[in-house]
Amino acid sequence: MRVLGFAGSLRAASFNRALLRAAMERLPAGTEAETFDLVDVPLYNGDVEAEGDPESVVALKASVHAADLVLIATPEYNGGLPAVTKNAIDWASRPPRPHAWDGKPVAILGTTPGRLGTVSAQRTLRVSLSVLNAHVMDQPRTVIPGASGVFDDNLALADEGAIETLDKFLSAALEWARIFQRS
Ligand SMILES: Cc1cc2nc3c(=O)[nH]c(=O)nc-3n(C[C@H](O)[C@H](O)[C@H](O)COP(=O)(O)O)c2cc1C
Repeated sequence: MRVLGFAGSLRAASFNRALLRAAMERLPAGTEAETFDLVDVPLYNGDVEAEGDPESVVALKASVHAADLVLIATPEYNGGLPAVTKNAIDWASRPPRPHAWDGKPVAILGTTPGRLGTVSAQRTLRVSLSVLNAHVMDQPRTVIPGASGVFDDNLALADEGAIETLDKFLSAALEWARIFQRS
């Protein structure tokens, strides 16, 4: 099982990067885990694409293609999806065909300092991925509110409830991906 994860925030002290790191660390032994940093992925530009994909985009597409499961940890900006997250979805939706999201098992998680924990961003992300024929896990919806209270000073996930939520998410996501490995 190859699991690819990326976070839709570029800042070093991002709660979503921290959440993704916790998720990747808590995958069971034997899982092949790759975290992709979106920091070098430029904004989608059809002119750049026409000249040939930048190296970071080639790598992103290859990583999504190769994964049995993609975990996306996204923040929420203004009730929607941050450009960083959407930009990664858009680049990887481009040729060669079939594009990298087609038939891809995906599980979404996210955290915000606020009370709703990325509910709206996740809804928007789900719509785009469904348009691309990705298989987005429906349940459990994994939103972690109160981000500033669940990580310690080193940004390790320290809240027992949040760890339990994350573990349930991971086991459901792996089971979700196995369904498509079998079919
Ligand atoms: C432009 C902008 C818009 C934001 N809009 C929302 C929002 O709609 N809902 C929310 O819960 N938090 C919102 N926030 C707060 C983010 O959840 C918070 O900055 C969070 O820490 C960002 O994720 P990160 O820590 O992974 O970078 C917004 C932050 C920024 C910078």
